[in-house]
Amino acid sequence: MRILMIGGGGREHALIKALQKSPKAEQLFCAPGNGGVSKDAICRPVDPMDLDGVVNLAKSEKIDLVFVAPDDPLAAGLVDKLEQAGVRAFGPSAAAAQIEASKVFSKNLMKKYGIPTAGYEVFDDPAAALAYIREQNSYPAVVKADGLALGKGVVICEDYAAAEEAVRSIMLDKKFGASGNRVVVEQFITGPEVSVLAFTDGKTLRPMVSSMDHKRVFDGNRGPNTGGMGTISPNPFYTDEMADRCMREIFLPTVRAMAAEGRPFKGCLYFGLMLTADGPKVIEYNARFGDPEAQVVLPRLETDLVDIAEAVIDGRLDELDIRWKPGAAACVVMASGGYPGSYEKGIEICGLDEAGQLAHATVYHAGTAVKEGKFVTAGGRVLGVTATGETLEQALEKAYDAVSRISFTGAHYRKDIGRAAGGAKA
Ligand code: AMP
Ligand code: GLY
Repeated sequence: MRILMIGGGGREHALIKALQKSPKAEQLFCAPGNGGVSKDAICRPVDPMDLDGVVNLAKSEKIDLVFVAPDDPLAAGLVDKLEQAGVRAFGPSAAAAQIEASKVFSKNLMKKYGIPTAGYEVFDDPAAALAYIREQNSYPAVVKADGLALGKGVVICEDYAAAEEAVRSIMLDKKFGASGNRVVVEQFITGPEVSVLAFTDGKTLRPMVSSMDHKRVFDGNRGPNTGGMGTISPNPFYTDEMADRCMREIFLPTVRAMAAEGRPFKGCLYFGLMLTADGPKVIEYNARFGDPEAQVVLPRLETDLVDIAEAVIDGRLDELDIRWKPGAAACVVMASGGYPGSYEKGIEICGLDEAGQLAHATVYHAGTAVKEGKFVTAGGRVLGVTATGETLEQALEKAYDAVSRISFTGAHYRKDIGRAAGGAKA
């Protein structure tokens, strides 16, 4: 099969590496890909949001299967367009991708179908939102832009002044554009966070192994939120009992709710959960693989990813047994100096050959380019250095060993990935 991956980050590189293991994958393409991806797939400079451009590429390259990995083209209807053109695609329709693209949609869905989540109110008027926050007088207050905002549309406000600033920047200054036409004001909840990705064909749901993201930029969960600075799998807080409970109370009810709404979800559904004293609650849904969750989950997948994608598309996931490797995986993201703020690009990356030769580690490229035959930085998150092991401690040790061999000017990474989860050696 000729397979096309849409996107160009570490998640897409991990998906491509997983597809390389399939005997069915004859030729892999990626649009637009990145420097590292270009060593594993043929990269084509098509913007994922150029929906017609992607359809034309799929047609001209006689693609048999497309994976749409990022949120924006899913929400814009790329999977619908490909299907209309007769191209098989893995990912939800635009109608189903609303579960991520609109927090108002997902919160109302959860309320209607009794799926546990933090209490909330929706506002399209900034004055009304602020009046409500003042009346509640409960801090921190959580303010979320309705639409997609590169993971930055959630503000935890410690006092009224912070809430005023959040509502102003989202609703009036339109920091995230039309995504801020409405806001959700949410109850603040606490507990360990767990990411669970699941394959679903709209009827059957098969959860993947669990993971834990590290969203803040600095050690000790300090500093601003990022796209994710590292991950581990499994998530030690997520016990078998909790998995059963989430299946009953959250996962299956969500798949059934989407089908009942006439928006059956096909693809990878991501549950961002918080394990509160009151039981597991949904913090957010994503309509896609997480990044860098995919980097620790996919290396543990034993079943052929092409078989899974085809079963999802054809609605016969119930026939498939999906197997996972025991043990653990860890990913440490190496980022550009300044990230998640502004940063320089084009800085040479050293040590990749040495790290790449370590049998136990895989370096996924997130933001790299090739310049005069050398790898240079080309994004905020540059590399996802990943390792597997029998235990979390081993996986972390190997991942950090590989990290120590790689360098570029300004590089920074968290030294405490997995530590809060018991990976003491990190
Ligand atoms: P999100 O981008 O929706 O994943 O939110 C970013 C982060 O904000 C989450 O990972 C949580 O740590 C935090 N968060 C979101 N909603 C709440 C809430 N209702 N209570 C406490 N923390 C929250
Ligand atoms: N790592 C979180 C996300 O992909 O949204």
